[in-house]
Formats: sequence, structure tokens, C-alpha cells
Amino acid sequence: MQFRVFDNASQVAQAAALLVVSQVLRKPDSVLGLATGSSPVPTYRELIRLYKAGVADFSKVVTFNLDEYCHLPQEHPCSYHYFMRHELFDHINIPIENTHLPDGNATDLDAESVRYDAAIADAGGIDLQILGIGHNAHIGFNEPADTLVFGTHVSDLSPSTIQANRRFFDQEEDVPRQALTMGMGGIMRASCVLLIATGQDKAQAIYESIRGEMSPRVPASMLQAHPQAFFLLDRKAAKLL
Ligand code: GLP
Repeated sequence: MQFRVFDNASQVAQAAALLVVSQVLRKPDSVLGLATGSSPVPTYRELIRLYKAGVADFSKVVTFNLDEYCHLPQEHPCSYHYFMRHELFDHINIPIENTHLPDGNATDLDAESVRYDAAIADAGGIDLQILGIGHNAHIGFNEPADTLVFGTHVSDLSPSTIQANRRFFDQEEDVPRQALTMGMGGIMRASCVLLIATGQDKAQAIYESIRGEMSPRVPASMLQAHPQAFFLLDRKAAKLL
């Protein structure tokens, strides 16, 4: 794992977008792992800008998102299906059938988890995985625990994650308590990982993930063992390093 520190969030987004575009230039049919949350939004805006400028072509790209809430309709404005269309897919030339998110409304969530991992494997695995990080250092929705789960699975969201997600919903009762998330194995198997963290509220999680011991209690610390994991940080998120 390596990290790079930039002056501000805009530079982080430009650097992340350049790495994504260079991946797609090298391999037009790249398989990208995508994340939601506010951290990757400036990167997605930069990718849209590069697409509109004729620099990036996503026509052969395939994507798999990290996670989706359970029991939230895909059309709900807080669903990750909605988020991805709104923040990225509707603005670039990726065929919508090339984009994948787990189905949090599947009647059999275990079968959906197996299907999702098989679809990633069938696509040849993830070339480049974009990640954000939770305040408790969760990645995807792999929450701190005594043991981490390898494959896609149902995750019970921690109180701090439910609280962090509260800002997107009208009332606390509306915030989903469970999500379907790619597991740590799925993330660690990606050939390259870009973790984006900006803002002072991520400084502690970043410090523990980079300087602390690898621990399932700090899920992002597992990336210390990944040979091609890059943390792209602004100065505020890197403040404690
Ligand atoms: C959610 C997502 C994560 C994301 C995290 C942080 O929990 N499942 O993938 O990294 O939020 O979000 P933000 O970037 O808005 O702080």
C-alpha cells in the first residue's frame, strides 16, 4: 500500500480520474469497481468532464459496484442504483447493461451474493477498484468486526454508519439497517485499489488504516497487504500521518 497527499479534494479527484482514464486507455474493456458516498463524486465529475472532452471512452468498460442497501427500491433517490445513474452512468457513454450493482431487493440475498461474485469472476475480475472509507474505517459495507467476510454478503450496518447515512434520508427510521456488500476478498482480489479520502473527519480512520496494525476492527487496514493499493488523500485527511 502507498499513499499520496494532495493540497485539496479537487486535486485528489483529478489524480484519481487520471488513474482511471489511464487504466481505460490501456485496456478499453477494463472492469472497474465503483463506490458510492460523497468521496468519489468529484472524481466522477472529473471523469464526466474527460469523457465530454473526448479524452475518455467508456463504451467497452464494465462496472461492478461495491454495495447496495437491502429492501430499498432501486428507484429511491437514496438507493445506490439511483446514485450511480445520477452521478455517473447517465453522463458517459457506458452501456447501462455493462453496469452492475448487487440487488438488495432479491428474495434470496444469499443466492444473490453468490450470483454477484460469479458475475465478477466471469467478467475476469476487477482491474481497478475505487473505494471511499467510513468514519470507522469500513470499506464497502465491511464493518469493523472480529472476523471479516470474504465474499459478497448481507452486512448489518453499525450505529455509526447508520448515523453517517442519516443525512441522506428524511428521518432516522428510513435509514436502511442492512446492505449487500462485496466482501473483503472481492476487494483484495482487485488488481489495483484507489481509496479516496478527503476532509478532517476521515483523518483518524486514515491514520489507523495506514499506521495502525492490520486488524478486522479497522477494515481498511487490510489494504496494507495489497500490492497495488493507493490511498489518495487531501491534506486534511492526512493530517495525523
Ligand atoms: C457508505 C458506502 C461506502 C463509503 C462510505 C463513506 O458507507 N457504503 O462505500 O465509503 O459511505 O461515505 P462518504 O464518502 O460519503 O463519507
